[in-house]
Amino acid sequence: MPLLDVRDLHVAFHTRDGVARAVNGVSYTVDEGETLAVLGESGSGKSVTAQAVMGILDMPPGRITGGEIRFEGEDLLRLPEEARRKVRGARMAMIFQDALSALNPVLSVGYQLGEMYRVHRGASRKEARAKAVELMDRVHIPGSAKRVDDYPHQFSGGMRQRIMIAMALALEPRLIIADEPTTALDVTVQAQVMELLADLQREYRMGLILITHDLGVVADVADKIAVMYAGRIVENAPVRELYRAPAHPYTKGLLDSIPRVDQKGQQLNAIKGLPPSLLAIPPGCAFNPRCPMARERCRVEEPPLYEVGPGRSSACHFWKEMPDAP
Ligand SMILES: Nc1ncnc2c1ncn2[C@@H]1O[C@H](COP(=O)(O)OP(=O)(O)OP(=O)(O)O)[C@@H](O)[C@H]1O
Ligand SMILES: [Mg+2]
Repeated sequence: MPLLDVRDLHVAFHTRDGVARAVNGVSYTVDEGETLAVLGESGSGKSVTAQAVMGILDMPPGRITGGEIRFEGEDLLRLPEEARRKVRGARMAMIFQDALSALNPVLSVGYQLGEMYRVHRGASRKEARAKAVELMDRVHIPGSAKRVDDYPHQFSGGMRQRIMIAMALALEPRLIIADEPTTALDVTVQAQVMELLADLQREYRMGLILITHDLGVVADVADKIAVMYAGRIVENAPVRELYRAPAHPYTKGLLDSIPRVDQKGQQLNAIKGLPPSLLAIPPGCAFNPRCPMARERCRVEEPPLYEVGPGRSSACHFWKEMPDAP
């Protein structure tokens, strides 16, 4: 049984202009100790899917219109809010892009870290403070015993992100969802924070969902990748195979748009055009207006996820024609 099993999830937002279909039948699984990277352009539904799993979706305007979210065998969408709240934080936790807005600016980081133990574990103030220092050590914050009473703004961006990781780890959850955890940091700090997260994930054997648009980050830490486009998964693959032999033209487009150090001066092959409006997703394959391989069938028939190999699937009718097809 997978740790997390999302099945055919649908999420819609009711807006003034109509119904935005943000998630349209997403399925993925995460095992204990496994890292799933979720990749895709802005607006493809990566965060909304994660928010639905975490139970923090804005409802309204959002609405889960179909599917199941099974976590440790339990159907989360059927849990009463009280039980759901207990899952959140204790059994699954989330790390956001922007630590400064996720942390409370008027409380010391030690207080906020310790609060996890006071609220969930009934620890005393003194015990909680000691735990906070311990957690700060776990995420390699130098001088933890001195810095435990400092406020979030007194830490650098990278250190704040470490504090967010510490907060997520506090109750030793089984699953962590990290939504663009390093996007706001500069490149060297990004690598350090990502490495820390990957180390802790291995040590605690947690499941990790890593949401990113950075293909470079993914290669080193993920086991498998789900590529999203317009609220659907268009390709699933183990990480190496996806790089070696993408089985969907959208994935290939993403890979081709990475600047490569070994090909200096080469023009970036960004994917032409823009993702569709979620208020009017094109019929057939949602990617067809931008796809160099598109033909008539793509404009009328929505592709299913074809199985293209072990642990691999592609939502392209013509995946066999991809230059490096599996
Ligand atoms: N609170 C909301 N109200 C209305 N629509 C929303 C809301 N949150 C998300 N959406 C819609 O859902 C779509 C998917 O959003 P989501 O945040 O999942 O994208 P994403 O893939 O995480 O993109 P990014 O890479 O920019 O974070 C958005 O384009 C938006 O139209
Ligand atoms: Mg997002």
